[in-house]
Amino acid sequence: MTHHPAIGIHDLSLATTEFVLPHATLAAHNGTEVGKYHIGIGQRSMSVPAADEDIVTLAAAAAAPLIATHGSDGIRTVVLATESAIDQAKSAGVYVHSLLGLPSATRVVELKQACYAATAGLQFAIGLVRRDPTHKVLVIASDISRYDLDSPGEATQGAAAVALLVTADPALVRIEDPSGVFTADVMDFWRPNYRDTALVDGQESITAYLQAVEGCWKDYTEQGGRALQDFAAFCYHQPFTKMAYKAHRHLLNYTGHATDEDAARRTLARTTAYNTVIGNSYTASVYLALASLLDSADGEDLSGKAVAFLSYGSGSVAEFFAGTLTPGYRTVLRTAAHTRAVQRRREIDYATYRQLHQRRLPADGGEHLLPEQSTGPFRLAALAGHKRIYTAR
Ligand code: HMG
Repeated sequence: MTHHPAIGIHDLSLATTEFVLPHATLAAHNGTEVGKYHIGIGQRSMSVPAADEDIVTLAAAAAAPLIATHGSDGIRTVVLATESAIDQAKSAGVYVHSLLGLPSATRVVELKQACYAATAGLQFAIGLVRRDPTHKVLVIASDISRYDLDSPGEATQGAAAVALLVTADPALVRIEDPSGVFTADVMDFWRPNYRDTALVDGQESITAYLQAVEGCWKDYTEQGGRALQDFAAFCYHQPFTKMAYKAHRHLLNYTGHATDEDAARRTLARTTAYNTVIGNSYTASVYLALASLLDSADGEDLSGKAVAFLSYGSGSVAEFFAGTLTPGYRTVLRTAAHTRAVQRRREIDYATYRQLHQRRLPADGGEHLLPEQSTGPFRLAALAGHKRIYTAR
């Protein structure tokens, strides 16, 4: 038998936007009882990008601390997963590679399959590191979730990026074999190339997600995966945090386990802290659930414990896989920086949010300076000749 080194997530860093809109403000505007947002979907606020932020600035902001800590030695691949692409041809990862000053001896690519693609990136990265254990892969999930104003999806918007450094002998999470995978051609959520807001059939999307939970769990079991009781925690893709509860309940029912709401709350509450205040960050969402679990203030050391991951992307593709937390992981967390990223956001009023939502980048190829609204490490400074010009602070 070949001996494989443990491979997985060595470090994780998140970034989110300059602005935040509380759900109470949205509720006051549209007359919704705020309990529908706070309890019904489990959301308190949503991250809103400034006019000079996009998925590139978010991705670079998430990844920069990883490079600052570990340097770029050994990083020969950058995978940027997104469904909010800024270009139909060029990978957003190439701009990030440039902003981070990574060496030219790097391959860079963008991956897409709705919210699922970062998990594909993680699995591809593991394959590369297995081939050469000195190889490190930077996997970045970066997304801005946008639905039409005054649509049911509006309350589930958000934006964030999570950067993962994937290596052998990882300090945070060892990703295990096998994975359970599932694909079904469904039209629950999509965004044609000519639209910048997503189209969604809300109730159909929830059903499609739950079907995918069954499908990838079934495959995970058939591939010889762990029993459900083995897991100390479950990180679900969270388009809104209540969805984690729906998915978990569904998995328990499907596997013939009783659904104890208190037990579900204990299991899931530690994974929802970031998503409940950031909103849907698409590809980043399941890794924000992991960040939330790692940074969770309840003090339990989960060293050596198994964690389940359920990654779902509409359309649809899903994957169920497991990781074990590396002993000592709590000494290498970025909890303070993550808390700062969430707390530094400036609250905006409804009119400002609406104005930002309705804003479109000029498409005339002329020279346009963008208003300096953001205060993060990177900004989209200008457009010129159909090119995006980024600057670092
Ligand atoms: P809606 O129709 O506005 O809401 O849409 P609702 O009527 O279904 O109510 C939501 C919940 O609030 C219900 O609870 C209500 O009972 C409750 P549930 O029955 O679900 O348990 N409620 C209240 N609770 C307390 N106090 C109150 C109150 N009033 C009502 N006063 C929907 C909700 C999520 C469908 C909508 O926001 C939407 O379309 N969102 C976008 C789609 C989405 O997030 N789908 C999730 C699954 S698909 C997915 O995860 C993939 C995705 O991330 C994209 C990708 O892969 O790229 C979206």
